[in-house]
Amino acid sequence: MNNRSVSSEGAPAAPSSPADAGIAVRAQGIWKVFGRNPERVLEPKYRDLPKKELQRRTGCVVGLRDVNLEVKTGELFVLMGLSGSGKSTMIRTLLRLVEPTAGTLHVDGKDVSAMSHKELLEFRRNLVSMVFQGYGLLPHYTVLENAAYGLRLRRDEKDEREARAMEALKTVGLAGWENYYPASLSGGMQQRVGLARALAKNPDILLMDEPFSGLDPLIRRQMQDELVDLQEDIGKTIIFVTHDLPEALKLGDRIAIMRDGQVIQVAEPEEILSNPYDEYVRAFTRDASPARVFTASTVMEEPEMLLYRWQGPLTARTEMERQKREWSFVVDRKRKYLGVATRDAIERLVKEKRATVEKEDLTYLEPVKPDVIIEDLFGLVSSESYPLPVTDDEGKLLGVVRPRAILNALSTEEDDA
Ligand SMILES: Nc1ncnc2c1ncn2[C@@H]1O[C@H](COP(=O)(O)OP(=O)(O)OP(=O)(O)O)[C@@H](O)[C@H]1O
Ligand SMILES: [Mg+2]
Repeated sequence: MNNRSVSSEGAPAAPSSPADAGIAVRAQGIWKVFGRNPERVLEPKYRDLPKKELQRRTGCVVGLRDVNLEVKTGELFVLMGLSGSGKSTMIRTLLRLVEPTAGTLHVDGKDVSAMSHKELLEFRRNLVSMVFQGYGLLPHYTVLENAAYGLRLRRDEKDEREARAMEALKTVGLAGWENYYPASLSGGMQQRVGLARALAKNPDILLMDEPFSGLDPLIRRQMQDELVDLQEDIGKTIIFVTHDLPEALKLGDRIAIMRDGQVIQVAEPEEILSNPYDEYVRAFTRDASPARVFTASTVMEEPEMLLYRWQGPLTARTEMERQKREWSFVVDRKRKYLGVATRDAIERLVKEKRATVEKEDLTYLEPVKPDVIIEDLFGLVSSESYPLPVTDDEGKLLGVVRPRAILNALSTEEDDA
């Protein structure tokens, strides 16, 4: 019998019961109370008090209140809720990085709540991996060493851990980057290293706490797409925390909505939208028609063509011919949006033997901000117009919204109605 199936008292832990077949995580009656003498909060005179009232009367903060959850094996399960609703506490409790005040917890049929310290370490090293926001990379380790870090902690052989880490880096599209240091990678790439580190352990379960929230909108969407693909390929159980509704709707097989430490609804995305449990959930999903939930950043894409200001008219013309384009967005060295260069304008500059393309030579389309809702973009485009440039507060070109993308959002809505 290995260590993992022995509980702290030395008695054999309960074996996986048949009821647990197909269930990756089962949390029953989980409470987490922060503060002094947290157990007293479970007494009848306190336990049903609202969070604020409880805090006033006892000085304790309720992180989780009687949470019951079942996550199926192979499922991408999303925990969603406002800030402070208990998402991180819940996901950390699954690893007992936060010790629950009450309740039982089974992961892969194993009673996590009864594990000894040693069993717990073993469990964290082998069965589950956590991906944090902010990547948690070690700056003086190479990409490969970072990806292999979890394997090093569990003392895998060097050859073995490097081979596995390489495999994981390949899975997340970072082959060739193994000898670089994190500082030379973009945010999206660093997040991928964090993911590779989690995957290298080949865990049964991946826990992801707002992994994409620090990323630029386009990169974020790309990472979401990749996660969906990855999930198809590897079929791991993933528990994913977010407070972003479109992200939850896109990724989740099922979504659990948390409020004040409680799970108040667990349902498939469609069900959450069509049948919100109460006003709180409704508020989350209100106006959930795509045109009102989705913003410019949700539907924007990379521009098909981009010219840089320092490229002169001749280069611009050559590029337009090569890419068979009649126009292009133009940006400066910092990717600040300057305008649109049309083929005619460029031809004219070539004829005039001008050396540079200046702002006055460009057509200026008013840019939009990434958080503008689609509905507000309808009026700005017609099907034959240019895409809309999307810029951040510094005027940096983040992406473009094509008229088709806007019209698609509209037609989805009409189809649903
Ligand atoms: N170590 C702690 N000590 C005291 N209170 C805590 C601690 N950790 C969390 N809490 C409280 O527990 C509640 C849930 O916090 P948690 O971090 O789980 O929320 P969250 O849903 O992850 O929020 P966010 O979206 O901001 O990350 C909050 O009221 C928080 O103040
Ligand atoms: Mg959190």
